[in-house]
Amino acid sequence: MSVSTNLLIRNATIVLPNGELTVGDVLTHDRQIVEVAPQISFTSATREIDANGLTLLPGVIDPQVHFREPGLEYKEDLFTASCACAKGGVTSFLEMPNTRPLTITQQALDDKLQRASQKSLVNYGFFIGATVENLQDLLAANPTCGIKIFMGSMHGSLLVDDRTALEVIFASGQRLIAVHAEDQARINQRRQEFAGIEDVAIHSQIQDNQAALMATKLALSLSKKYQRRLHILHMSTAEEAELLRQDKPTWVTAEVTPQHLFLNTSAYEKIGSFAQMNPPLRSKHDNEVLWQALLDGVIDFIATDHAPHTLEEKAQPYPKSPSGMPGVETSLLLMLTAAVEGKCSVAQVVNWMSSAVAKAYGIPNKGAIIPGYDADLVLVDLNNYRPVLREELLTKCGWSPFEGWNLTGWPIYTIVGGQIVFEKGKLNTEVRGEALTFQDT
Ligand code: DOR
Repeated sequence: MSVSTNLLIRNATIVLPNGELTVGDVLTHDRQIVEVAPQISFTSATREIDANGLTLLPGVIDPQVHFREPGLEYKEDLFTASCACAKGGVTSFLEMPNTRPLTITQQALDDKLQRASQKSLVNYGFFIGATVENLQDLLAANPTCGIKIFMGSMHGSLLVDDRTALEVIFASGQRLIAVHAEDQARINQRRQEFAGIEDVAIHSQIQDNQAALMATKLALSLSKKYQRRLHILHMSTAEEAELLRQDKPTWVTAEVTPQHLFLNTSAYEKIGSFAQMNPPLRSKHDNEVLWQALLDGVIDFIATDHAPHTLEEKAQPYPKSPSGMPGVETSLLLMLTAAVEGKCSVAQVVNWMSSAVAKAYGIPNKGAIIPGYDADLVLVDLNNYRPVLREELLTKCGWSPFEGWNLTGWPIYTIVGGQIVFEKGKLNTEVRGEALTFQDT
């Protein structure tokens, strides 16, 4: 940025790092927060926002998204996905390696970083994907938020389902390993057992709770054997939550998606294969146990697993229909609506969607409204319920499993590095995010 800028946000209800809410002002200078106070007397701000009645949160950091660039841009790309992020209050994302080519080398990682610097309206970081033969790439990759291992639910070289190969990765290096935990052998066997069934509800039986539990148990045991930093992606079952409740080393974290909290197998009747994802939707009982595990700190944070596929692709009969749902435009809304309805507090939502993510991935100066921290912020209106409408979505795939849901907490302003990227329904597509940095991963 060539000219220095100051943004002054006045009279916001600010969620402080200790979880308290207070009405006050926040001043930014270039990309940073410089002052948080009941009243700031500063008269030469480049821009002032009257935030009376709005709540100011640190921007959401979504730690698991699939943004499809390079290679699958017909589904989504880094520009359209980051527009959807800005609208949803997501100011940073961590993106997965199942793009084309796969992100399994430094060269592929550099290419994504370069693309994002040109196209992304919000901040970005990328996982490096594990294969059975890219150990040197996993050790050397930089910058990366961590190593992604698909223990199941994947074809081709990103599938690492062999115990010996997993041991080699867990035993080498120190950086964070994030696992998609489903047992591929069990899935293969059950696919055969249920072959020929086109009712998509069978998906949750083929990739059942047991398949998830088996892989999570294996990842946990390897993490304990090698004392290796482990993150369990999109945990979906009551059994896994109970396992972690009994036995969770300090170096292990876990996340849950809004889909696994708010949707269950009854969604197949309403939206058919649009409810198909991996790991699959589970029962109402699983929803409840996952919620409790989140409230109790057994699950550390929220990720969307934003995984866009086109309407045409999703409309195909099972099992041709691909797994995955978009999520960055609805995650904060769903969680804030839950807070307004008394299921949790707004401060807990801030922790699960920003502070705890920054901490787990060692992202410096993000996840809290503190002088010296980055000015990644979102101002939301907690007092205005509106339905999620297909025609308003910015994700390229053009649909949401939450269409028609009446939600509150809509972002009115989203701010990335002190620049307003989304304001009252309009994007500023000139804004660009920055590459995230990671300590200790
Ligand atoms: O449902 C899913 N879709 N789960 C994954 O792990 C991958 C994702 C995708 O990339 O479509």
